[in-house]
Amino acid sequence: MSSLEIKSVLKETSDKLRNITDIPQKEAMLLLANTLKKELSWLVSHENDLVEIDESFYKAVERRVAHEPLEYILGKATFYGKEFKVDKRVLIPRPETELLVDKVLELLPHEEHMHIVEIGCGSGIISIMLALLYPSASFCAVDISKDALDVSRHNANHFGVESKIDFIHGSYLDNVTQKIDVIVSNPPYIAENEPLAVGLSYEPSLALYGGKRGDEMLQKIIDLFSEKDAMLLVCEMGYDQKEAIAHYASLKGYAAEFYKDLAGLDRGFWIKGKRWEKV
Ligand SMILES: C[S@@+](CC[C@H](N)C(=O)[O-])C[C@H]1O[C@@H](n2cnc3c(N)ncnc32)[C@H](O)[C@@H]1O
Repeated sequence: MSSLEIKSVLKETSDKLRNITDIPQKEAMLLLANTLKKELSWLVSHENDLVEIDESFYKAVERRVAHEPLEYILGKATFYGKEFKVDKRVLIPRPETELLVDKVLELLPHEEHMHIVEIGCGSGIISIMLALLYPSASFCAVDISKDALDVSRHNANHFGVESKIDFIHGSYLDNVTQKIDVIVSNPPYIAENEPLAVGLSYEPSLALYGGKRGDEMLQKIIDLFSEKDAMLLVCEMGYDQKEAIAHYASLKGYAAEFYKDLAGLDRGFWIKGKRWEKV
């Protein structure tokens, strides 16, 4: 244990992170604030204080220097303005996935008693946010990974929506028996041979790869949407999958509609089923 001035710890740490992130100073502050269990604002107003720094801080910095995502080191990530527990068992929530929740909000009336099913819930962010936003809906959140379901159950308990969401271990809709009104999914959609960005190699491969081309899971979800006669499907997809999805949906008799992310890239689609007109 060593006693050091806060501003010199921050300077030394941000120097180490300079080649790792675009925001080295902010990340240095987040790592130190997390170790000291203080707010960022406290660090700023106490930069001349001496603090005891233990080994866990240096270990955390080394993990970041090795490109491990900050969210795994801190054990949390922000989604839709709320803090969710995350660790290596789940994909880190991405800001673009907030647009999927926005799209459901835009399309789906609030007063309906819908049964909404998520395929591949991971940390649970989508189902949990929708459960908070649609108090009269009921939910199933499916994942093939038991480990991911443990994390999503923890998050659902934290936000008080555990009784609204039935967490199901299984592949696709294999173990879902209820009638389904809405299907939502941010499935794995990266092609098998696509090289991964450095940080991505820390995330579960089950959450990343969607098959040889990448859009296989998305196609299977469109098949299931059709089979289950659900009224609405909203999915995230890869920026280069619009054409393939539009074509596949049209083979199934649907006109998929698409939304873009904040970078202007194609990022998701929705399909209205035959039952939609009756909503
Ligand atoms: C891209 S992650 C999305 C996680 C979370 N919904 C989010 O948006 O951050 C995809 C999730 O699908 C799960 N998954 C992969 N194959 C699956 C399958 N056949 N059935 C159900 N879930 C599956 C993975 O375990 C992973 O948690």
